[in-house]
Amino acid sequence: MHCIKPTLLYFDDEQASAERLALAANLNLACIERHRFPDEEIKLRLPHTLPDRVVVMRSLHQPNEKLLELLLTCQTARQLGAKHLVLVAPYLGYMRQDKAFQSGEAISQEIIGRFLAQLFDAIITVDPHLHRVKLLQQAIPATQAIAISAAPLLSDVIAARRTNPILIGPDEESLQWVSIAAARHHFEFSVCRKIRLGDHAVQIKLPQISVLGRHVVLMDDVASTGQTFASTAQLLGGAGAKSLAVAVTHALFAQDAIQKIRRAGVQEIWSTDSIPHASNVIYLASCLADAIGKIYGELEFTSKRQDFS
Ligand code: R5P
Repeated sequence: MHCIKPTLLYFDDEQASAERLALAANLNLACIERHRFPDEEIKLRLPHTLPDRVVVMRSLHQPNEKLLELLLTCQTARQLGAKHLVLVAPYLGYMRQDKAFQSGEAISQEIIGRFLAQLFDAIITVDPHLHRVKLLQQAIPATQAIAISAAPLLSDVIAARRTNPILIGPDEESLQWVSIAAARHHFEFSVCRKIRLGDHAVQIKLPQISVLGRHVVLMDDVASTGQTFASTAQLLGGAGAKSLAVAVTHALFAQDAIQKIRRAGVQEIWSTDSIPHASNVIYLASCLADAIGKIYGELEFTSKRQDFS
């Protein structure tokens, strides 16, 4: 059934990462053509025939229009012959709003999660922001939902660039990533406590651990306004850190985030290519390719089992 190579569909703003993934996962590559009408509606054009297995790559930062693109893409892909659709979304937006903090608020994680699960058979992402929900499949109830962690790769970069560093997470949620990265190279680590006062304001309390004269690496899943890293870096500088660096999976870095973080004393910023950015030093293609291989392996296994039953 699966003798034809799967096709990876991508959009032109993600060409470089799509090429890396197609190479790593041995996929045919096809760009989805996009036309924007004067009134802002969009028209998409896919290749006129598709194999039964199709992977769609779309990192969901600045996600609003991309969600519409995915709706148009999936329905068209199925009409053109696709029977199994995988979404590779290295950054998965809308995961932070996982409950109604005030009555009447939309629980975006649940709504977007269900939307994606209706479109795709399988979903692959990297360090999704899961807090109250533990498993990706609870947030996105697709048949297969794989969350890869970039923490080991970030840990390797830190080990290559800093001697005897100390890792600091800016809030309690970051413990899940910081602890994995620390364990890999036996780094010391701790996490701060954070109270978010608004989109651009946070209050940070440093942990008890001494950073005096130490190379400190701040680590988190995502940086958006940069306020979390900037406030934490300022306190760590005041506590005597010898150097300050940032290691982050998703480089959202909205508006003047980078300048804000640098002004707070951070000398280096390292990120993965889940979102294209000048700070990217880690390519996720081979991890994503492994996850695609796993999905196709399970698919073959299930279809063989069905053939024999
Ligand atoms: C939330 O807890 C996340 O892990 C990040 O700490 C947060 O999104 C960073 O946001 P910002 O850069 O806007 O402070």
